[in-house]
Amino acid sequence: MKTTFPINEKASEQLGREVFTNEFVPADFFKEQELSDLFERDAPTEIDLGCGDGSFLIQLAQQYPERNFLGVERLMGRVKKVCKKAYRANLTNVKVLRLETLYTVQWLLPKNSFDRIHLICPDPWPKEKHHKNRLMQEPFFEAVHQLLKPTGEYLFRTDHEEYYDWSVEKMAEFPKFKTIEWNEEDFFYPKSDFQLQWEAEGKRLHNMRCLKVEA
Ligand SMILES: C[S@@+](CC[C@H](N)C(=O)[O-])C[C@H]1O[C@@H](n2cnc3c(N)ncnc32)[C@H](O)[C@@H]1O
Repeated sequence: MKTTFPINEKASEQLGREVFTNEFVPADFFKEQELSDLFERDAPTEIDLGCGDGSFLIQLAQQYPERNFLGVERLMGRVKKVCKKAYRANLTNVKVLRLETLYTVQWLLPKNSFDRIHLICPDPWPKEKHHKNRLMQEPFFEAVHQLLKPTGEYLFRTDHEEYYDWSVEKMAEFPKFKTIEWNEEDFFYPKSDFQLQWEAEGKRLHNMRCLKVEA
């Protein structure tokens, strides 16, 4: 049977396209949001930046129903897919925002509000002339640091070894995060379809776990 997905009429009118109720559409894209604009419930909140098809996000949200999860993704087709997956799985703790990551963390989301922020297998921009597009550098670190609560964590995972090494160097120059060890058994951390595909091809995933250490 075909599933009918609930529509947010107001946001659909605002954007001139169909918007599902679990897509987060800011009333004003140029105003810093309140956490209560995103989720009605006051609960620990995590962000998955560049959430892709949502396979990581959905598993996390299923594992931790007591937490809220925001996925950020720029591609419309993927945003819709994640919204549909969350609805079909009866998840009320997931919202998806269709927007560019750096803009979202620098300008849109509220400061000192998030418990964990995840960046999983972002585009590695392998050519040297494109390294300026990589997220893992100071302006992004500063923005993520500001969004996190004082005890918050930033978690990064990549399949791209050279990007990982480059990121380690960039993070070492940023004193407001402390990088700590991250063992598989420390906490539940699902693998996205994308990660499973890389591993099946024999590639290793590289992890970085960073604690906010300075206000
Ligand atoms: C390689 S995929 C990984 C997806 C997912 N994190 C996973 O592990 O399965 C990268 C995703 O980030 C999205 N993306 C890339 N750059 C972005 C940006 N600047 N803002 C928002 N999304 C972005 C892409 O559209 C894509 O869905």
